[in-house]
Amino acid sequence: MYAIGVDIGGTKIAAGVVDEEGTILARAKRRTEALDASEIDRAVADLYLELSAEHPVGALGVAAAGFISSDRRTALFAPNVAWRDYPLRDRVAELIGDPTLPVVVENDANAAGWAEFRFGAGRDVEDMLLLTVGTGLGGALVVDGRLVRGAWGVAAEVGHMRVVPEGHLCGCGLRGCWEQYASGSALVREARAVASTQPDRAARLLELAGGKAARVDGPSVTQAAREGDALAGALLADLGRWVGAGSASVAALLDPALVVLGGGVADAGPLLLEPAREAFLANLSGRGYRPEARLELASMGNDAGIVGAADLARI
Ligand code: BGC
Ligand code: NA
Ligand code: ZN
Repeated sequence: MYAIGVDIGGTKIAAGVVDEEGTILARAKRRTEALDASEIDRAVADLYLELSAEHPVGALGVAAAGFISSDRRTALFAPNVAWRDYPLRDRVAELIGDPTLPVVVENDANAAGWAEFRFGAGRDVEDMLLLTVGTGLGGALVVDGRLVRGAWGVAAEVGHMRVVPEGHLCGCGLRGCWEQYASGSALVREARAVASTQPDRAARLLELAGGKAARVDGPSVTQAAREGDALAGALLADLGRWVGAGSASVAALLDPALVVLGGGVADAGPLLLEPAREAFLANLSGRGYRPEARLELASMGNDAGIVGAADLARI
């Protein structure tokens, strides 16, 4: 059976028709910038209607960046989106108007992690952690070949584990969450801070941002780092170390065979991965006396959310 997966991201909503091998057969997308919750519902429904008009599909899975209830219907809470106890599944299903269509909502990182586990970097393991390093820090856990959902659907919200007592304020309302140190938003915050206080050191970043510290963004940090810019490389290495050290804490709890790094920031490749690996090993308890998890980049890129949401909608 084909299913449609829709991934609601910070800048776009991307959709695809997905077959049972995880291949995307057709795609469509809409811009999300400045859409409110009901406009997002409309865009998701429109994408479904557009794609299903051309392809026979049996289910719809929607990947959303927030805490999703275990019945896969409600966005209970979202640190970076306005959903509060929001009936996302029912709103989208009403707009589609086909009562026989199975529609489910999944956490965005869970969807991406499921896709990597089934078809991507995690194909060969039974226990893995996926991290999506983007606007937020998302997590997915597969333990013994099963996606861990927790009692209420909110397991694997690793971005909100506290890593710094009284640290930076997080979109979730608490302080010191891992997401505030290991995300694209954290990278941009640090880059902008250096650009405004040490413009000489940040000359290349400022140039890419038209001279304005407040316009420095994540992709330009990656670009500058690739060109060999020392500051940009150091910022990515810092981020990588936060990713790796936190992953070691997760390993203390769950002992995964593999940690997969995805999300926009993973485009930085080895500039992120190498420092993450080093920090992971440096912070792994019992190192030298236990097998060590591998850290690898995600292999499905931006498609993971679409593919995972579609695949989970079939289950
Ligand atoms: C949210 C997660 C989401 C992640 C990535 C976090 O802030 O709490 O639900 O998976 O960002 O989008
Ligand atoms: Na998750
Ligand atoms: Zn938080």
